[in-house]
Amino acid sequence: MKKVGFIFDLDGVIVDTAKYHYLAWRKLANELGFEFTKEQNELFKGVSRKRCLEILLDIGSVEATQEQFDTWMVEKNVDYLAYIEKMDASEILPDVTRVLKFLKSKNIPIALGSASKNARPILEKVDLLPYFDSIVDGNNVTKAKPDPEVFLIAANNLGVEASSCVVFEDAVAGIQAANAASMVSIGIGDAHILSEANHNFNDFTEMSDDFLGSLIKK
Ligand code: BG6
Ligand code: MG
Repeated sequence: MKKVGFIFDLDGVIVDTAKYHYLAWRKLANELGFEFTKEQNELFKGVSRKRCLEILLDIGSVEATQEQFDTWMVEKNVDYLAYIEKMDASEILPDVTRVLKFLKSKNIPIALGSASKNARPILEKVDLLPYFDSIVDGNNVTKAKPDPEVFLIAANNLGVEASSCVVFEDAVAGIQAANAASMVSIGIGDAHILSEANHNFNDFTEMSDDFLGSLIKK
């Protein structure tokens, strides 16, 4: 049997931190004098912090000097971290822990592949850090999703061939990155939005141990 590895995105797959990103970006938008809607926040999924601010400023038609841009990046993250500080294991999305435990029971190596620079503290807050053999996050990559870099580094760290990795993602850019890495892509969320994924589930409660087992045997 071939050695397989599993790679999890963080925001929107393991925890619903999109709501905290939204509140922090909305506060900044309001301070700058414009509204930022939940629908617009969809554009931010899987996108780096810097790119999010560029999009936000476009939405508000705000011109920024480099100094202002850097200040607002920091300000948003400080506000976001205040929400993270209050997180605990109750914020793990349904059945994520069951899937992690199932994979561990089969000795499958597990990595995190996230655009976030806050990945490690979040995993610590929700007590999931021990499940991960490798953490690849926004601090380790030079190219953002849909570039496959984050997942290729994760596969390499796990010592597993890219084509033998399975990726769980909630963002279109993340599914595209997994596909570009020749990995099995599994969309977690709206199947219409994540139509490029190899498999789709609304959430992990829909994913049976039998299905996971079939991915391991490939
Ligand atoms: C991704 C989120 O996981 O991480 C994006 O989907 C976010 O919305 C990006 O912008 C970067 O996160 P952070 O924590 O480094 O600002
Ligand atoms: Mg995500």
